[in-house]
Amino acid sequence: VKVAVLISGTGTNLAALIAYAKEPASCAQIALVISNKSGDVEELRNAARAGIPTRVVDHKLFGSRSEFDCTIDRVLEEFSVELICLAGFMRILSSAFIRKWNGKILNICPSLLPSVKGGHAYKQVLQAGVKVTGCTVHFVLEEANTGAIILQEPVSVNTDDTEETLLERVKEAECRAFPIALQLVASGVVRLGADGKTCWKQGT
Ligand code: GRF
Repeated sequence: VKVAVLISGTGTNLAALIAYAKEPASCAQIALVISNKSGDVEELRNAARAGIPTRVVDHKLFGSRSEFDCTIDRVLEEFSVELICLAGFMRILSSAFIRKWNGKILNICPSLLPSVKGGHAYKQVLQAGVKVTGCTVHFVLEEANTGAIILQEPVSVNTDDTEETLLERVKEAECRAFPIALQLVASGVVRLGADGKTCWKQGT
């Protein structure tokens, strides 16, 4: 299954996905990496070194969200992409784009949805004083902002945790969870049902 990874950030999850996809058992092949950040993007160089085509689609060059999304869509079609992984992609995708790629977009979130959502997840967790946080991989849905959960990995919150130390451990969990979730979807074990809920293949 041909997969595109969309990034804006440091690319830790991207590296984990690329490493996983190289394993013989992987049903996913990373066929393309897109970043919306122009300039000197180290992660794109790493992807290129791994032999993966890379593209920069700079959102600042577009007048509207839909024009930006149309360009992303065109690049995805050019590479015959079948699944999209949002790995720290900081742009909100339009409804039309999500509708077209319904059930084909996976996102990683640095908290346990739906209890903690939105930005500043680590701050929210520390302020609330919860003892367990984690990460969530989910299908992106047009309507809900929580999406349909595919996989979560819990992370304990320590009394001396700061946003930085928590981020570090949650990122480690993300790098384990995202490749597993991708494999579940790419292999057909998990899909998005017509009711907008995650659907597991019978007998698994
Ligand atoms: C991750 O923590 C992810 O949950 C969030 O953005 C971050 C991306 O980090 N959506 P990286 O670029 O994979 O290092």
